[in-house]
Amino acid sequence: MKLQSTLLLIIFALVILSCQSDPEIIFESQVNEDYRPIYHFTPETGWMNDPNGLVYLDGEYHLFYQHYPDSTVWGPMHWGHAVSTDLVNWESLPIALYPDSLGYIFSGSAVFDAENSSGLGTDENPPLVAIFTYHDAELANTDSETFQSQAIAFSLDKGRTWEKYEANPVLPNPGIRDFRDPKVSQITNPDGSKSWLMTLAVLDQINFYSSPDLKNWSLIGVFGKNIGAHGGVWECPDLLPFKTPSGEDKWVLLVSINPGGPQNGSATQYFIGDFENGQFTPDDTMIRWLDYGPDNYAGVTYSNLPAEQNRTLFIGWMSNWLYANEVPTVAWRSAMTVPRELSLFDVNGTLLLKSAPALELEKLRSKEFLVNDQSSTLPSEAVEIAAEIESDSFTMSFSNVAGDSLILSKENGLVSIDRRKAGKSDFNKYFAAIHSAPMSWEAKEIRIFMDASSIELFVNDGELAMTSILFPSSPWQNVTVSENVDSLKIYKLKK
Ligand code: FRU
Repeated sequence: MKLQSTLLLIIFALVILSCQSDPEIIFESQVNEDYRPIYHFTPETGWMNDPNGLVYLDGEYHLFYQHYPDSTVWGPMHWGHAVSTDLVNWESLPIALYPDSLGYIFSGSAVFDAENSSGLGTDENPPLVAIFTYHDAELANTDSETFQSQAIAFSLDKGRTWEKYEANPVLPNPGIRDFRDPKVSQITNPDGSKSWLMTLAVLDQINFYSSPDLKNWSLIGVFGKNIGAHGGVWECPDLLPFKTPSGEDKWVLLVSINPGGPQNGSATQYFIGDFENGQFTPDDTMIRWLDYGPDNYAGVTYSNLPAEQNRTLFIGWMSNWLYANEVPTVAWRSAMTVPRELSLFDVNGTLLLKSAPALELEKLRSKEFLVNDQSSTLPSEAVEIAAEIESDSFTMSFSNVAGDSLILSKENGLVSIDRRKAGKSDFNKYFAAIHSAPMSWEAKEIRIFMDASSIELFVNDGELAMTSILFPSSPWQNVTVSENVDSLKIYKLKK
């Protein structure tokens, strides 16, 4: 009896000690919610980066994400999981994929294998299949080049539980260090048959692979060696079919790059062209950026959306590898962007990609304020602001009681977000900066999504998008606009 209670006492002491070894997570995190967004997705605790496996199934939008639950800095990657029925309310679910003896679970995608081509489900209950990169961290610390490979896992219960395929990896490493982030989609071939297409980031090019069953993959094409921005490694590609405004078929290839973006650090470039038999042929050599702000990275689009939605839905990671591990949140790190709808538009004969806030975001509006003045108080930390612009230029400044300021503007063909004095920035020397984007065509209206620690600016419904995170010392309280801003509306947004 005495021995038993001594043993219990020792176990109790060990549990207490192990909790204290990571006080940030166990204690502080549960009380310090500073900067927690009100309507952007964040993990409850721990680290998050890229969105993964964006797939729609039976009324649910799944959001898997790069996650390290044991710390607020990047580490052994898991796939965290959340679902939403409306793209604005997210329910966190248990972790979907844990690292194992083959490695960490890096970024990837998920598809609904409706015809059970993989044989991982049954005809009555076809599987949801996740395709991800294994990153063998031990091997990565050696001279080996073969530490990243592609693997699959499947779920037969709408993503609630997952089983890894017993014969992983399905695409072994051919001897290339950076070999990751598989994005898979289903393609209908000219003869009407279907096959799976994988778009993979390979150092600083994109490889295309084809498969009949998600298990056997063959290389069918490569793209990108001498085109586009090459200031860093290419990551998280996504190949998407679109119609141009004149009804022509085009393909868009999203490629995230780190570093080497238009601002310092990470960003997503894209190419527009044709895609046939594994060959992507770009229309031109112009470098295009999906979002000119510093904080929209590794974004990808939803698969298996119902055809009647007839849209391409995108979510990005709202941070930048320059400082992602250092931002001053305590319980968690990083949020996702609001969901955006991508489409092609034409400006003076040049095709560009537009990112408009998803329609569902209107559901967040709780109260509307029509502002007739050039200045107004803000009803909450979470607001949407919409305004019309006269004469192609504007200034909009935010202030708070702490004396911080944040300035958005368009002047002389440049759209800018100046966050130099927008609050805490001493955690990284690159953070306090003014970020600008060229916009040679007319700005007619703007929409802004502001949350506790971010701002997303959409000019002309997303013809130009800029995303920036911010850490104001107190909530933004006041907005002041220049005379050429008209019909100013402020919506209070709910949780
Ligand atoms: C992009 C990225 C991916 C990789 C993942 C690791 O942000 O570097 O290329 O799979 O993050 O967490």
